[in-house]
Amino acid sequence: MGEAGSHVEGSRLDPWVDSYATRAKNLSASAIRALFAVASRPEVVSLAGGMPYVQALSMDDMADIAAQVVRDRGPQALQYGSGQGDVSLREQILDVTAEVGVHAHPDDIVVTTGSQMALDLVTRTFCDPGDVVLVESPSYVGALGVFRSYECDVVHVAMDDDGLIPEALQQAIDAARAAGKNVKLIYTIPSFHNPAGVTQPAHRRAQILEIAQRAGIAVLEDDPYGLLGFEGEPPRALRADDDQGVIYLGSFSKTIASGLRVGWAIAPHGVREKLVLAAEAATLCPSNYAQLTVSQYLATQPWREQIKSFQEVYRERRDAMLESLQAMMPAGTTWTIPAGGFYTWVTLPEGLDATAMLPRAITELVAYVPGTGFFVDGQGTANMRLSYCYPDPDRIREGVRRLSTVVEAELEIARTFGTAAGTPGSLSGSGESSTPAPDLA
Ligand SMILES: Cc1ncc(COP(=O)(O)O)c(C=O)c1O
Repeated sequence: MGEAGSHVEGSRLDPWVDSYATRAKNLSASAIRALFAVASRPEVVSLAGGMPYVQALSMDDMADIAAQVVRDRGPQALQYGSGQGDVSLREQILDVTAEVGVHAHPDDIVVTTGSQMALDLVTRTFCDPGDVVLVESPSYVGALGVFRSYECDVVHVAMDDDGLIPEALQQAIDAARAAGKNVKLIYTIPSFHNPAGVTQPAHRRAQILEIAQRAGIAVLEDDPYGLLGFEGEPPRALRADDDQGVIYLGSFSKTIASGLRVGWAIAPHGVREKLVLAAEAATLCPSNYAQLTVSQYLATQPWREQIKSFQEVYRERRDAMLESLQAMMPAGTTWTIPAGGFYTWVTLPEGLDATAMLPRAITELVAYVPGTGFFVDGQGTANMRLSYCYPDPDRIREGVRRLSTVVEAELEIARTFGTAAGTPGSLSGSGESSTPAPDLA
C-alpha cells in the first residue's frame, strides 16, 4: 500500500481519503442505508423501496426472449455495440414515447444504462462546480446524488399538489442570477413524481416551459413513470411541446424490468452529440444483450397490455395504501393522492420528526424513507415517502397499521414531553441527502 498505508491523517479505515478528488467528498452513504440493511428482513413490511413489481411479468416469456436473443442474434448480443445504442431499439423507443406525445428521430436518442446514467451524462455535460441546478421540493434522491457529485449548487423550488410552482421557479431563477450564479438546468419529474406523488397539469407544464424558454435554461425532464397512470391518457410530456429546450429521459425500468438497466435520453442535436461522447467515455456502449432483450420483448410481446396490467397492480396497491392511511393515521397527518406511479408523500402531525422516528418504526417492523433524504438542505423532517409498488395490498395494510401505532406513540411522547423524542437528523448525519441504496431510490 506504500505511503498511503503509513498515512497518519484522514481516516484509519480508509488510508486513501486524502487522495480523493473534491467531488468524491460529496459521495457519502447515508446512515439510513445501513439501517435499511437491517430492515430488509422478511418480517419488516417495507414501504421504503422503489422496486417495481417485476413478478407481474411472465418469467417463462422472459426466459424465452432471453434464449431467442442468444440463439438468433448471439454474436451481436454478446459483442460491443454502438455508443449511442442499437438503432432498431431506438426506433422502437419512439413507439413508446409516442404515448406521451414525444416524436423524434432515432438519431436524437441515446440509449443509457438506466435513466440514472442519463442523469449523470447530462450533468457532466452541462455543469461546472458551483453551477445552479433547480430541483423540486422534494426531489428524486438519485438525481440529487448526481448533482452533488458534480459539485452543483442544488436549489430547491417549492411545489404544491400540482407539482412545481411556476412563480417560485421564476423567483428562484431571478434570485440565483441576482447572486451572480449560472443556472444550468431545471430538473423536473412532471408525472407521478418521486417522491411527492403529484403530477403537473397541462397548463402548468406550459407555464414552466415558457419560463425556461424565456430564461434560456434547459429543462431536464425525468419521466420514468409517465405510462403508469391510473386513469385516462398518459400526461403529455414537456418535450412534446419543445424539442429544443427539453432533454427528455425515459426508462424501461418501470414498464418492463429495472434489472435490464435500459433507459434513454432524447436531446437536441448538439446536446445529443455530447451525450454520446460522454457515454462512450463512461461505458463504451450500453449492454447489447440487454438492449436486444428489450428490443425482442417490444417486437414480440403485447407491451401495451403488459403496461396496463402493471397499472392495475399499482392502482390496487395505491388504493390499499390510501384507504388504510385514511382509516388508521392519527389526525393531523396528511398525504398526497397519487394518480399514478409508486409513491405518496406523507406529512406528519406538527412536532414529529420522521428521521428520529425511523428506528422505532423498524422496531415495530415497518420501514419508510424519511423526507430529509429528498432535500439537500435539511428540509423534510416532518415528511416521509411511502411506496406501494412492491408489497401486496394485505402487507400494505399491515404496514400502515404498524406505522400508525408508531405515529400514535410519537404523538403521545410529544404530548408528554412537549417535543418529539430523539435527535432530529441524527440518522442522516448532516440531514442532507446522500447516496441511497439502489432499491430505495
Ligand atoms: C425519478 C426517477 N428518475 C430516475 C430513476 C432511475 O431509473 P433507472 O432504473 O432507469 O436508472 C428513478 C428510479 O427510481 C426515478 O424514480
